[in-house]
Formats: sequence, structure tokens, C-alpha cells
Amino acid sequence: MELNRVPAHVAIIMDGNGTWAKKRGLTRNMGHRKGAKTLVDIVRASNELGIKYLTVFAFSTENWKRPKEEVDYLMSLPESLLNDYQDDLIKDNIRFRVIGSRKELQKEQVEKIEEAEEKTKNNTGLQLIVAFNYGSQDEIVEATKGIVKEVLKNKVKIEDINKDVISKHLYTKDIPPVDLLIRTSGQYRISNFLLWQISYSEIYFTKILWPDFKKKDLEKAILSYQGRDRRFGGIKE
Ligand code: IPE
Ligand code: IPE
Ligand code: MG
Repeated sequence: MELNRVPAHVAIIMDGNGTWAKKRGLTRNMGHRKGAKTLVDIVRASNELGIKYLTVFAFSTENWKRPKEEVDYLMSLPESLLNDYQDDLIKDNIRFRVIGSRKELQKEQVEKIEEAEEKTKNNTGLQLIVAFNYGSQDEIVEATKGIVKEVLKNKVKIEDINKDVISKHLYTKDIPPVDLLIRTSGQYRISNFLLWQISYSEIYFTKILWPDFKKKDLEKAILSYQGRDRRFGGIKE
């Protein structure tokens, strides 16, 4: 792996916690607990590798369909992780952000997230972006409403709507497109994650379950990325 050519923006669909737990006769929530530990390690590893943006899918707008006990546990994770690791984020110069809809979240939860965002907003190392209650289709719907409102107020002309205007209305407005998308646990789908932002991403699927994912697996994905020929619709010289 060439350290001077790591992807600027890596996104991960952290999948397979339930399967990992089931294989061990544990509850699904124990799988999520181990998955959260993996996240802490991978954030550290990404910062060490010099990745600039790491976006992780932690809870989708579709995950509300799961049993209440599981939803409750997943909802509690950001707060408990921030309680344990907020000081590390500051010490390691990591900027923390959350993307997704906050309307369905509890007030205390939102306050905790906002506090961490505020305290780390000037950090210049890795940007850790947690997609929580995130759905890409909802994001595009909200962007569309925002643009329509601006048109109605004569702030934007229809002729001036372009890809840039749309990008600027997404949660990721100041974040570059994804270079490398990783999905663990051997499922080959996107599950409503960053549809706009992955238009030219390289995609890496691995059978490894998220709780088992290690720094060496991230390095393997980056090595694969470094062997790709990114053409963006053009041709090789
Ligand atoms: C990913 O693991 C975590 C979330 C979706 C929140 P899963 O819980 O989806 O694990 P599997 O897919 O059932 O193994
Ligand atoms: C995607 O995983 C969401 C997260 C990793 C948070 P899911 O497990 O929810 O996706 P599907 O249901 O297998 O598509
Ligand atoms: Mg899953």
C-alpha cells in the first residue's frame, strides 16, 4: 500500500454485526457492541493512515423496522461512545460530525451530538462523519425541497440549478465525493447509502463481518483501490 496515495474519502457500510453475534450464540445487541469497538479501532487506524474523511453507516432510515430492543440499543450507542471517546477525538485532532435526520432523535441525544460537533469543529485531522438515521433518498428529497423554496423566493433561477447546486443542499455539502466505498459481511448492495456521493466511487466488498474487521483489512481495501484505474468516463492515455 502506498501511504502517499490513500483515498481522501472512505465510506463504510458497517454490516454483519447480527450475523457475527448469531454465530457465537450471542444476542444481536452484543454484536452491535463489538461492532462499536471495531469502529473505534478503524477510526484510529484511518487517522493514522492519513485518510481525510471517513463516513460510516451506523443507522439507516430503514433500520427503525427492527425490534424495539435492538433499535433502543442502536439509538443509545452514539451517546455512550461519545461519553467514552469524546476526549480521544479532541486529543487525536479528529473532527466529528453526524449526517442524517435529527427530527426523530431524542433531544438529549441531539444535544450530545451537537456538543461533540462543536468541540471538535476546528480539528484538522480526520473528519469522522457518522451517518445516523440517514437515508440517501430522504436526503435528496430534502435537498429538492430546499432548492424549490429558493426558486420560489427568486434566490435561484431554474436554469441555474446544476450538480453543484444539488451537492450544496445535501448533508455532505462541504465534503468531497467518496473515493472508496467498503461494505462488509458479503452483502452486495448499497442499502440507501450516499447514492449521489458514490457516483464514481471505487467499491470494495468483503465477506468479513464488521466486528471482525481490522486495520489490515482496511489496508487491503486501500491496496485494492490503489490498483484500480479510475477513468471517470474518459479513456486511458
Ligand atoms: C450492521 O449489522 C449494523 C446495523 C445495520 C445497524 P446488522 O445488524 O445489519 O448485521 P446483519 O446484517 O444482521 O448480520
Ligand atoms: C445497512 O445495513 C445499514 C447500516 C449498516 C447501518 P442493513 O443491514 O440495514 O442493510 P440491508 O437491510 O441488509 O440492506
Ligand atoms: Mg445487515
